[in-house]
Amino acid sequence: MTPDPSDLLAAAVTARDRAYAPYSRFSVGAALRTPAGTVFTGANVENASYGLSMCAERVAIYHALSAGEREFDAVAVTGPEGVLAMPCGACRQVLHEFGPGMDVIFADAGQLRSMPLSSLLPEAFGGERLEAATSGGGSPQRAAR
Ligand code: THU
Repeated sequence: MTPDPSDLLAAAVTARDRAYAPYSRFSVGAALRTPAGTVFTGANVENASYGLSMCAERVAIYHALSAGEREFDAVAVTGPEGVLAMPCGACRQVLHEFGPGMDVIFADAGQLRSMPLSSLLPEAFGGERLEAATSGGGSPQRAAR
């Protein structure tokens, strides 16, 4: 049976509890769903060299991609209890690459909510824009060459 939004959020909570976040103490969990209903989770993983830390959403998506998945229709994200945690800008961009139509599920003051990723990343930059440039739809300089 395809996991519903509350199942996905529960999977994100389980993942969050495995976060490695000793520096920020801000644990995040994410659970992605494929169109076939398979769930892949991730938690943030920090490093003493702070810039090497990785967000939960990207751990989840790289986990799924490395298992052969390429398409997702929903992601649930959760931060520390009682805190509204939404995907950061970098994660929105990475999620867009593999699921521009996906829903983002989260808990807001104990209420389950969902928003389309497209509303969180309007006018997104995707591969089709690169294709438009290489097929002549790009800058005049490029077209002239
Ligand atoms: N973090 C995530 O895991 N996902 C986000 O979308 C926002 C931020 C993590 C990164 C870092 O380990 C901690 O939260 C504090 O920024």
